[in-house]
Amino acid sequence: MVLGVAGGIAAYKACELLRRLTESGHDVTVVPTAAALEFVGAPTWAALSGKPVTASVWDDVHEVPHVRIGQSADLVVVAPATADLLAKAAHGLAGDLLTNTLLTARCPVVLAPAMHTEMWEHPATQANVATLRSRGVLVIEPAEGRLTGKDTGKGRLPEPSAIFEVCVDVLAGGSSGAASRGHDLAGRSVVVSAGGTREYLDPVRFLGNRSSGLQGYALARAAHVRGAEVTLVAANVALPDPAGVKVVHVETTAELRTEVLAAAAAADAVVMAAAPADFRPTAVSDAKIKKADDGSSPSIELVQNPDILSELSHHRPRPDAVIVGFAAETGDATGSVRELAAAKLERKGCDLLVVNDVSGGAVFGSPDNEGVILAADGEGTDVPRGSKTAVAHAIWDQVARRFGD
Ligand code: CTP
Repeated sequence: MVLGVAGGIAAYKACELLRRLTESGHDVTVVPTAAALEFVGAPTWAALSGKPVTASVWDDVHEVPHVRIGQSADLVVVAPATADLLAKAAHGLAGDLLTNTLLTARCPVVLAPAMHTEMWEHPATQANVATLRSRGVLVIEPAEGRLTGKDTGKGRLPEPSAIFEVCVDVLAGGSSGAASRGHDLAGRSVVVSAGGTREYLDPVRFLGNRSSGLQGYALARAAHVRGAEVTLVAANVALPDPAGVKVVHVETTAELRTEVLAAAAAADAVVMAAAPADFRPTAVSDAKIKKADDGSSPSIELVQNPDILSELSHHRPRPDAVIVGFAAETGDATGSVRELAAAKLERKGCDLLVVNDVSGGAVFGSPDNEGVILAADGEGTDVPRGSKTAVAHAIWDQVARRFGD
């Protein structure tokens, strides 16, 4: 990643953003402007990023940094982006290392402007922002609040944590990410379940359902970035807890049911992305089950688990809540993937069903997903192949459309 820093007082906040980016495992090259170095010196950026830092195209010329840095980046984020930097970027000027980097980058570019209200509102700046947005650059709206002096207004740099989330989302979701949707889920409370439950046979063995939890976690992060209050009920997922999300860890279907139903009482939407085990052993042995000397195998008697999605849909904790299920289908002799999914939607009674064709196991553990979102009213929305973050946003788009006000 490249963190560009332009010459505004908010440059000091970019230190915090840099910290978050490096601590979450990103390899960050800081490219300040000469003016940025008047506010925060090169040693600070070098120490925090662990790399040499310069604003000039004349250092290490043999490595051609004015081309290489932009070309090799997966994301360029500029925070703060001053009025001057926006103007240069909009017009393709290339007088220093940062503007050269912006011209050579072919990856997503996020600009977080910060300036006085008058400068932000000036037609020149607004025209530059419009030009940059028309080219696919993601220009975050500045926050309102206290500016450099005693004055307040629009033009503050958004909090580093908010910029960080946009970066993560853009890295995962491309231009379909959260920033293009704003805070459309603000004021909403949502519940997401993720992962696969385990049903124990004895203290060391279990029957489990295959699920990485990636799609559920992407749903939780996407909802949070769009402003929702999120409870994530996670079953046996080996992923870090998403920032800003309440995470409840569970193992079995019974535990998942208890936690989902508790959180659903106040929720505007529940998305059941988890894969709960449908059956559990009738009895759980207190001691480890031993192999028999005669080579015989034990029989395991199973009992059916409650269907949480059906229960939520048929006994709604809130009548106006939007309930979303997932269906992983392969199609069989009785019907196609779509036919089986339509039957499942009706049987489960949910409002939306996200249908994945899992013939061949393609989706499990993959960073990508695709499918169709079937609605109880008969509507079907195709979700093209994309990152699980992009799919998450497509699902929240459909949920948001169904929120009554
Ligand atoms: N689900 C649930 N509780 C269960 C099993 C499944 O809430 N005990 C939810 C899943 O989270 C998912 C949806 O139901 O959102 C579909 O799960 P699936 O396993 O495809 O449904 P089944 O009813 O088990 O259908 P099938 O007969 O195809 O196995």
